[in-house]
Amino acid sequence: MREPKTLTMATAQRPAATRAAIVGLGMYVPSRVLTNDDLAKIVDTTDEWIVQRTGIRTRHIAEPDQAASDLGVPAALAALREADVAPADLDLIIGATTTPDMIFPAMACLIQDRIGARRAGAFDLLAACSSFVYGVISAADMIESGVAEHVLVVGSDVLTKLVDWKDRTTCVLIGDGAGAAVLGPSRNGAGILSSVVGSDGAAGDILKLPAGGSRIPMTEQAIAAGLHRARMDGQAVFKLAVRVVPDAIRQAVERAGLTLDDIAVIVPHQANQRILEAVAKAMNLPIKRFISTIEAYGNTSAASVPISLWEARRAGRIRDGDHIVLVAFGGGFTWAACVLTWGR
Ligand code: ACO
Repeated sequence: MREPKTLTMATAQRPAATRAAIVGLGMYVPSRVLTNDDLAKIVDTTDEWIVQRTGIRTRHIAEPDQAASDLGVPAALAALREADVAPADLDLIIGATTTPDMIFPAMACLIQDRIGARRAGAFDLLAACSSFVYGVISAADMIESGVAEHVLVVGSDVLTKLVDWKDRTTCVLIGDGAGAAVLGPSRNGAGILSSVVGSDGAAGDILKLPAGGSRIPMTEQAIAAGLHRARMDGQAVFKLAVRVVPDAIRQAVERAGLTLDDIAVIVPHQANQRILEAVAKAMNLPIKRFISTIEAYGNTSAASVPISLWEARRAGRIRDGDHIVLVAFGGGFTWAACVLTWGR
């Protein structure tokens, strides 16, 4: 893998007059829990190795008949209830997923139908584990520009269906889940203050699923060659994440006109506890400023940031008026961050 030459990112400072806020949150995980000891019966691994190298103890696993929209619908309905927005009043649904039920129709369209969002446009956005943060930023753009008033962003991934259950380096990391946010116009100046998006397609090979697209269709030969399973160079992902995440956070905070001291908590994508620790160290920030839910959920891809946001709020770690950062990285390679003042 080559190192990216620069870390240029598209940054934007958000206009106060039409600021968009997260006005409702929801999450859903399948009921089946897989422990590290369960995994040790499937591949050559141990609870000790997984905990020490990743921080993960358990993860939730979808049933064979559960797809991304099945997890996304209850998360979406919970977010709509909290926002006090009726499905029929939604203008747009953004599906943030790398594991949609099928290539098309989009997961967002399936959710639109099942929740009865009759007026809403719907599309999926694929930025791997960064998809939800990209979705929140896109939703804010739509609200600020007047295209939409209420936007539902659903981050839902069922990566357990796409990993190689014989590959101990990847299958121990992931879990399934969904998180959703309703965004609408802010009433009191809270909401999304700034955003950053970045990518490095030259590093695409470090995390990819080769078959199932137009390059290598899902043929018997592709399956026989194992090309229908996700592949990962774990160390390369680790190094690139630790390189881009601190810069994304710093740039988003600077664009918001704030300093790191102003940030109550950072809600990061949950890939590995050691990545969070390395990022905290690189930024000279206490690790407790980073919300961590990886122990219970593993890496739930696009769902990890909204699940962690939901858990942080439930634990009383985020209060109205707090400045917080959402930040994610993932296959592509992609990354995104935004700074919010919490509140409606
Ligand atoms: N159990 C026991 N041993 C293992 C396991 C396991 N589950 N996995 C790997 N090992 C072994 C390796 O074979 C290697 O053995 P060796 O020294 O005899 O060759 C040893 O442990 C060390 O392997 P490393 O790859 O060097 O371990 P590392 O400390 O880098 O941790 C990990 C690997 C956890 C994958 C880490 O690199 C990481 O978290 N990277 C980021 C992953 C990520 O964010 N992925 C994105 C999403 S996941 C997805 O989409 C599928």
